[in-house]
Amino acid sequence: VRKIWLTRHGESMYNTQGKLGGNSVLSPRGEIYAKMLPDTIVDRIPLTSEGCTMPVSVWTSTLGRTIQTAEGLPFPKLRWKVLDEIQAGIFDGWTYEEIEKQKPQEFAARKSDKLRYRYPCGESYLDVVQRLEPVVIEIERERECVCVVGHQAVLRALYGYFTKTPLADIPRLEVPLHTLIELVPKPDGRMAEERIHFD
Ligand code: F6P
Repeated sequence: VRKIWLTRHGESMYNTQGKLGGNSVLSPRGEIYAKMLPDTIVDRIPLTSEGCTMPVSVWTSTLGRTIQTAEGLPFPKLRWKVLDEIQAGIFDGWTYEEIEKQKPQEFAARKSDKLRYRYPCGESYLDVVQRLEPVVIEIERERECVCVVGHQAVLRALYGYFTKTPLADIPRLEVPLHTLIELVPKPDGRMAEERIHFD
């Protein structure tokens, strides 16, 4: 049976500063994760019924931190714009603390309805769920293993879809850095899941 792997990019410089969005490079810790990822995935590739290793394709966003994380993976790669992180609009590059202090109403609005809250000039989780539809269709159509190297909000939406999580719970799903989520479709239509933690 084929596998679907989901992982966030390695820790970025923006992550170390608690900043949203941006297009920063990996931190030294993030680079270590990117170096460890290939062996872990190669070791977990399932065999076909003929006993060959199954083909794998790697999908990233168009942002540098996912491309950098996927660099060492020895498989064909595809960049998807729709896999880019949730757009924080006017708050791109801000920290949560800055938003809370300088725009308390926006902060409170997001907290009270994280699923529907749309960043000014940006996106909501609902927007992200909708724009991911073509990726979901492609993953379902795919016969090969797929490894998606993505971002927190985008992977919450994808993971939520594959695990049939209610929409309302998607924005608070746990999708930590430096964790490889392995999903294996079961005959009953659900997914068996394993999480490999690297830190
Ligand atoms: O902090 C990393 C990040 O990917 C941000 O770029 C993004 O805005 C955020 O996570 C999404 O998570 P949340 O919806 O919990 O703010």
